[in-house]
Amino acid sequence: MPNRASLEAIFKNNRHWSQSVGAQDPDFFSRLERQQTPEYLWIGCSDSRVSANEIMGLLPGEVFVHRNVANVVTHTDFNCLSVLQYAIDILKVRHIIVTGHYGCGGVRAALENRSLGLIDNWLRHIKDIYHQFEEMFTHLGAEESVDLLCELNVREQVANVCHTTIVQDAWKRNQALTVHGLIYRLSDGILHDLDVNINAMEEVPRIYQMYNDQDLRNRLRTLRTTLKQGKSTET
Ligand code: CO
Repeated sequence: MPNRASLEAIFKNNRHWSQSVGAQDPDFFSRLERQQTPEYLWIGCSDSRVSANEIMGLLPGEVFVHRNVANVVTHTDFNCLSVLQYAIDILKVRHIIVTGHYGCGGVRAALENRSLGLIDNWLRHIKDIYHQFEEMFTHLGAEESVDLLCELNVREQVANVCHTTIVQDAWKRNQALTVHGLIYRLSDGILHDLDVNINAMEEVPRIYQMYNDQDLRNRLRTLRTTLKQGKSTET
């Protein structure tokens, strides 16, 4: 038998929470059962001090959530890709919000050379970002470096989301979908917009744009029509 005694406090809190929510709002749980049509997919850090719902003032059911250490999106992570695909194709979310937080422990670890085990391999992705923008860190102190890398990491992960076939397929079928990058500081919990709001194929660097044969035929047809229209207005 597992030692349930150590979880006793959690079960007690849970029953208390369930009763008090039910007392304040008797329909809460029946509403929750019916509702799974979120408009937002949140991709954030696993940090226990971070709660997607609370920080956005949304109810459970209003936001679909994926979390991992340092909010990283990599193209071979089938966990993250599955969440993306389900959120976009089935739930039809309209916004994907990659959210980082200043002082992130994962980002901090990526700036150091101390091995923490298997996770070093995961954080390697963040070291790559540092390496790419190394000159930006030249005159920064330790904390400023962590914060800058936290911001650059969010931007990079927004780009990675946009480079997936899942997001690009959605754009190609004209599904409304915007990818955003936000960051906040644990000391005040205020969300800051990093002003990377991407909602179309054309905003992605060309090398990352993927088209199959049918897409290319469609693009060619559109181009021809545009050219024809241009000609007819000239004459
Ligand atoms: Co973190």
